[in-house]
Amino acid sequence: MTNDLDNKDFVQRMKTEREKGISYFWTITNKEEKEFVGFVRLMSYNSGYYDVSFSSIGEHRFDNEFLKYFDRANGWEIDYALIKSQRNKGIMSEAVGAVLEFCKTDNLSPIYAKVNSMTNAATVKVLRHHKFADHLPQIDPKLLEKYDAKTIVENNLMGMTFKWTA
Ligand SMILES: CC(C)(COP(=O)(O)OP(=O)(O)OC[C@H]1O[C@@H](n2cnc3c(N)ncnc32)[C@H](O)[C@@H]1OP(=O)(O)O)[C@@H](O)C(=O)NCCC(=O)NCCS
Repeated sequence: MTNDLDNKDFVQRMKTEREKGISYFWTITNKEEKEFVGFVRLMSYNSGYYDVSFSSIGEHRFDNEFLKYFDRANGWEIDYALIKSQRNKGIMSEAVGAVLEFCKTDNLSPIYAKVNSMTNAATVKVLRHHKFADHLPQIDPKLLEKYDAKTIVENNLMGMTFKWTA
């Protein structure tokens, strides 16, 4: 966000997408000063977010074989982040738990979560804590330029899509 105009555009877009049932965006604030400390976002795969999320694989995102792994009609993707000073205090575990309760109530399922590298221990723990299951591992081709597949797997460098079902 660079200025007030950008902020207004962003808020308006989030409102419109929420009304259309395409995405939900929650900000996390601290109790005292109500300052922004992070966010959680849910994006429907039954919208342009599917294309955005899988743009890196190009037209393969429409292959029937690939589509067996993702429920485009009902699936959602979650992502989230916290400012550095507020990490490792249990905040995101609590926030994701609250969002999943919302998902259960509103019948939003399944929920996918993409993790770029399994070395991101904090996010892997948040997801596993909430019963997200390992779903589809992936290896960035750029990694294969540097390491062989065995080294990547042994060092947990691969990415993973996790899946949660209500
Ligand atoms: C991932 C992230 C949201 C986690 O939020 P958080 O509030 O710090 O997580 P929590 O405090 O709830 O911790 C969850 C678990 O991870 C552990 N953990 C937290 N930070 C850790 C770290 N740096 N290394 C290893 N474990 C860590 C906690 O001890 C806790 O473990 P437990 O469930 O066994 O008690 C936060 O680190 C972040 O914003 N990272 C950058 C953005 C990002 O990676 N987003 C995820 C994209 S998929």
